[in-house]
Amino acid sequence: SKAERTCALIKPDAFAAGYKDAIVERILAEGFKIVNSKDLMLTTKQAEEFYEEHQARSFYRELVEWMSTPDQPIHAMVLERENAVKAWRELAGPTNSANARKVAPQSIRALYGTDSSKNAVHGSDSLESAQREIRIIF
Ligand code: RTP
Ligand code: MG
Repeated sequence: SKAERTCALIKPDAFAAGYKDAIVERILAEGFKIVNSKDLMLTTKQAEEFYEEHQARSFYRELVEWMSTPDQPIHAMVLERENAVKAWRELAGPTNSANARKVAPQSIRALYGTDSSKNAVHGSDSLESAQREIRIIF
């Protein structure tokens, strides 16, 4: 089985709360290699493109504005591991942080997320999404 790459983001909530180092430590402890990383702020355009699959959803505009808030950095990473896409989504846990605390209490969203929108991290949902997201950010 061969190494895959996925795109991980530490979102503005977790970054501002000072959880970046703890999350990075956990990622490394779970066997991921961080092949590229940077702190940045997304432009509105980048956030719109990144989340374009959610354009029709009620939370889209709020999500885009939050993820591209000026002076609220995020930390973006390219993670490499066997089965990286699935493994990173499992480590992140369910989208809703409150649900994560019930069903996956050691997941990153359980430990560091707030609710269903402020949920600490992002993970690509497929290899194709990973490539697309990496192209938008790096
Ligand atoms: P992600 O893309 O961030 O890794 O999370 P995901 O696949 O688990 O969730 P997705 O359905 O792709 O939603 C993307 C992000 O939108 C925000 N969201 N808010 N208020 C809401 O009901 C709601 N639902 C989703 C979250 O920040 C979610 O991670
Ligand atoms: Mg998603």
